[in-house]
Amino acid sequence: MSFLIVSPGKDPKPWVEALKNQHPGLNIYVYPEDHNNEEVEFALTWNHPRGLFKNYPNLKVVASMGAGVDHITSDKDFPENVTITRVVDPLLSEDMGYFVLSLCLNHLRNLGHYQQNEIEEKWEPMGYDRNKDISVGIMGIGEMGKAAAKKLLNNDFKVRSWSRTSKDFDQINNFVGDEELEEFLSETQVLINLLPLTPQTEKILNKELFEQLPEGAYVINVARGEHLVEQDLLEMIDSGHLSGAALDVFWEEPIRDEHPFWKHPKIRVTPHIASVTHPNSVVPQIVDNYERMKEEDPLKNVVEKERGY
Ligand code: NAP
Ligand code: GLV
Repeated sequence: MSFLIVSPGKDPKPWVEALKNQHPGLNIYVYPEDHNNEEVEFALTWNHPRGLFKNYPNLKVVASMGAGVDHITSDKDFPENVTITRVVDPLLSEDMGYFVLSLCLNHLRNLGHYQQNEIEEKWEPMGYDRNKDISVGIMGIGEMGKAAAKKLLNNDFKVRSWSRTSKDFDQINNFVGDEELEEFLSETQVLINLLPLTPQTEKILNKELFEQLPEGAYVINVARGEHLVEQDLLEMIDSGHLSGAALDVFWEEPIRDEHPFWKHPKIRVTPHIASVTHPNSVVPQIVDNYERMKEEDPLKNVVEKERGY
């Protein structure tokens, strides 16, 4: 039985090392090195070549190296009978929490403005809002969203959330489904997107949605680039309806030279680093699932393919 790693564009070495430390007997191959496809039952992946997994007749499980699984579910040729798992890791969630908190504070205290002014040697104080007066709306209150909410609540922000199914979280006003989206947006001054990418959520951050936010709202997208209609965001910022945006994820990564986001004074760009999986932290859960697969026990963190996350 073999364990296959398929991660073009991502260095597999730390994963191999962590896997070997955790399970010295594991027979690991790193795609595309020479291996027998029939022996592979478990694969660990990030951005595999489309259609690859249909060439593995005995494959049972494909594990995502991260929290998101859209890089797997978007493969039209992904074999139906293969289970998909994802990472659920407190460290990964906590990193996300700190990152969105820092973006919110950065926005409130106008640090982008001062950073630009420093380059131009301009002394230009601005007024600012206090955390307690700002309502942050989180779209998607799953593992990442909950961690973000916790950090924001601990720092006095008001938090509301939007999800597919109803939630009863302390101190969080939750809104559910399409029917309550408008109400959710109407008092959201900082919008954080932490939805998974599915056919239902693709391009959800569009002009129609932005128009339902209050004047001057700020948008943070740390989920996936494909959630955002880029042109709509630019229009809504340039018209003054939105005060700006912080974007960590993009349709095309890295974004191309000359992309209008790079130089836009009201858009912060970060290179998909909001929360990055640490192999040592998540390899124990991957190996646990590998053992569960061998013992035919139920796996953990299994993706529900019908709902897409
Ligand atoms: P999760 O635990 O599965 O949570 C997803 C949340 O989205 C749930 O609250 C779910 O609602 C809600 N949702 C899904 N579809 C919806 C819909 N159609 N309408 C309304 N709500 C919907 O996922 P997670 O672990 O928090 O991760 C979320 C995403 O963050 C990942 O998919 C990934 O794209 C992104 N991410 C980005 C980075 C980065 O570095 N930028 C790092 C990690 C993750 P229910 O609770 O009702 O099911
Ligand atoms: C990162 O984007 C992840 O999905 O873990």
